[in-house]
Amino acid sequence: MQYVRLGTTGLKVSPICLGMMTYGSPQWRDWVLDEAASRPVVKHAVDLGINFFDTADTYSAGESEVLTGKFVREFCRREEVVIATKVFNPVGMGHAGSSNPLPLAARRPNMDGLSRKRIMHAVDDSLRRLGTDYIDLYQIHRLDRKVTIEEIMEALHDVVKAGKVRYIGASSMYAWQFAKAQQVAKEHGWTRFVTMQNHYNLAYREEEREMIPLCRDQGVGLIPWSPLARGFLAGNRKPGDAVSGETSRAKTDAVALKYYYQDSDFKVVEVLGQLAEAKGVSRATLAYAWLLHKGVTAPIVGASKTWQLDQAVAALQLKLSDDEIAQLEAPYQPHSVLGHT
Ligand SMILES: NC(=O)c1ccc[n+]([C@@H]2O[C@H](COP(=O)([O-])OP(=O)(O)OC[C@H]3O[C@@H](n4cnc5c(N)ncnc54)[C@H](OP(=O)(O)O)[C@@H]3O)[C@@H](O)[C@H]2O)c1
Repeated sequence: MQYVRLGTTGLKVSPICLGMMTYGSPQWRDWVLDEAASRPVVKHAVDLGINFFDTADTYSAGESEVLTGKFVREFCRREEVVIATKVFNPVGMGHAGSSNPLPLAARRPNMDGLSRKRIMHAVDDSLRRLGTDYIDLYQIHRLDRKVTIEEIMEALHDVVKAGKVRYIGASSMYAWQFAKAQQVAKEHGWTRFVTMQNHYNLAYREEEREMIPLCRDQGVGLIPWSPLARGFLAGNRKPGDAVSGETSRAKTDAVALKYYYQDSDFKVVEVLGQLAEAKGVSRATLAYAWLLHKGVTAPIVGASKTWQLDQAVAALQLKLSDDEIAQLEAPYQPHSVLGHT
């Protein structure tokens, strides 16, 4: 494995990050693997040289963080690995994700969002669940528009200065919001975000308009989520038929149904399949290779089987020509903005 710098930081990460949302409790999502089923997949990732793990407090109501910490202790040296986690969403089995929040009546005060109180509490909860003294990369899962950016950035700076967090990162938001947060931090001498975890894959490319050029200009590391469009790009879904997918996730992941399934998205999958066949690789390998050619530091891959990780790592060796990239991009049709609060 050739490790790369994460943005302009001195951190060295594998150019494939393992997304830990897949591991935790199937009580949270049908397609999530429990500890026993997760262990060989995560072990295989470590054997392949992956040292970068992305979880969140909200995944499986904290169980994903618990397993992340446990597997790191079992398989790795803590000082070698980079553990990223997130704060914003509520932590509870009933929470169905940023794009499908709990009904107002079911929400409790101070249990989500990015107030100073919530950040201070959430970081301690994450450290306890992870069973570690510090978090390498602490990310805001979304922007809390009800809290001032000054309150958010100062609280994040303070958890860094308290030694609980090494670096901070952000996730899906508008480019102007990210630029404002960075500017406010700079003006006050507070810690700035070093990474952007955004929604970017061959079936969702709206981030190419503003966020990606901004991050590349500023040296912010790009670590996109759902690089296979939640498995959609693997070609295991059918147009207009949400329940006949080929895997548990393909049958039950309602978010994928909401985000993709445009006619043009299926066309993307078709062209991806044709070029993958011509190059003798899987659709997944080609989809990851495309991202790596677009200046991404490390796609955050989801994997429910060990062979899927082999296909992710194979992308690191796959070279694409400009013509091939243009071929893959040709069928794309714009989407409305997906995945912001
Ligand atoms: N910041 C955010 O808001 C946000 C949002 C979403 C995700 N994330 C992060 O991003 C990570 C990845 O997200 P994701 O799981 O949606 O990513 P993804 O890579 O787009 O999808 C992963 C799914 O694709 C299928 N798959 C993977 N490799 C495959 C292969 N080689 N061939 C065929 N199918 C394959 C697997 O599903 P099957 O079980 O169907 O095989 C797997 O669960 C998460 O774990 C999390 O850390 C962050």
